[in-house]
Amino acid sequence: MSTQQALTGSIIASSPDLGLLLEPVKDELVQVEKFLNSNLVDDSPFIEELLGQVFRAGGKRIRPALVLLTAKATSNPRGHAGRLHIILSVLTELIHTASLVHDDVLDSASLRRGQETVNRKFSDKLAVLTGDLLFAQASVCLSRLMNPVIVGIYGQVLGDLCAGEIRQMRQQFVVSTDWNAYTQKSIWKTASLFAAGTQSAPILNAAGDRVVSEMKSYGINLGVCFQIVDDLLDVTGNSHALGKAAGSDLTQGVITAPAMYVLERKDGPAQRLDHLIRSRAVTGSEGVDEALEIIRNNGGVECTVELARQYARRAREALTVLAPSQYRDSLDSLIDWLLIRTT
Ligand code: FPP
Ligand code: MG
Repeated sequence: MSTQQALTGSIIASSPDLGLLLEPVKDELVQVEKFLNSNLVDDSPFIEELLGQVFRAGGKRIRPALVLLTAKATSNPRGHAGRLHIILSVLTELIHTASLVHDDVLDSASLRRGQETVNRKFSDKLAVLTGDLLFAQASVCLSRLMNPVIVGIYGQVLGDLCAGEIRQMRQQFVVSTDWNAYTQKSIWKTASLFAAGTQSAPILNAAGDRVVSEMKSYGINLGVCFQIVDDLLDVTGNSHALGKAAGSDLTQGVITAPAMYVLERKDGPAQRLDHLIRSRAVTGSEGVDEALEIIRNNGGVECTVELARQYARRAREALTVLAPSQYRDSLDSLIDWLLIRTT
């Protein structure tokens, strides 16, 4: 069953187009894009070519949009996002992009956002340095905020990203259905950066503690939901639509929610899946195809969609702390958009 099929018509019918959702911050997103393409550290032609390879591939810019919408939803008067919020958006996207460039080295990936990865086009060494350069640019941006609390939040995020990857690496081909460990890894890898943005935007607005903590909760829950959907798409998507190789989690022995739901049944299909993973048959195309088939035919997709929805509900609850506005509406609709995203 596909992700689209697993989601009921109600969400699909009510889900808006991403462009419409981002309309309230579209001018600021143009500024973010300009900033991302300007080089703060070294503007030599080769560095420009390297960064072009990364940013030409585009990306949905979800994290900058979250920062800007949260900024406008929590500003007084409502609807304002200034220079500091633009910088916060940029640095959040720089950290995200840097972590993907490094991730592609770890995964030996050839394709990202439909483009050749830096490691594939140039080399692993250059890709590591390109990621480092992006982290350096993010640090320069961070310093411009002149806010030690936000420096601490983003410092923690960098540690979390590494901790998540290390945890994942240590668990490769380990057949486990430890849901706490899975959730913690998703928080480290993904949700922590979402939450840094949605928490720091109101901090820059000097919003009250309750608003800051609920917007952190929104970011964490939305981020976990995002990672669960990402894990699901690895099972249900195709490489063309994803812009990256599908099925690559299992090929690399990374056990995520769709597989965990099947494994915990301990029945015949679960035992077969367990065997395909432990024997590393999933590293070959026949093995991974069989494993994906088992997951799709034994409830892995439906259960994972339900799990994503639980986190979506928690994210939506957190938004009740905000006064009604078009920015809150967009933050709310982004939850539905995430649930049906296909790329
Ligand atoms: C993509 O996950 C990867 C991440 C969300 C984080 C990767 C983080 C690192 C490599 C550590 C970063 C280093 C520093 C110095 C902070 P995925 O592999 O599940 O998604 P994919 O299918 O898009 O590759
Ligand atoms: Mg990866």
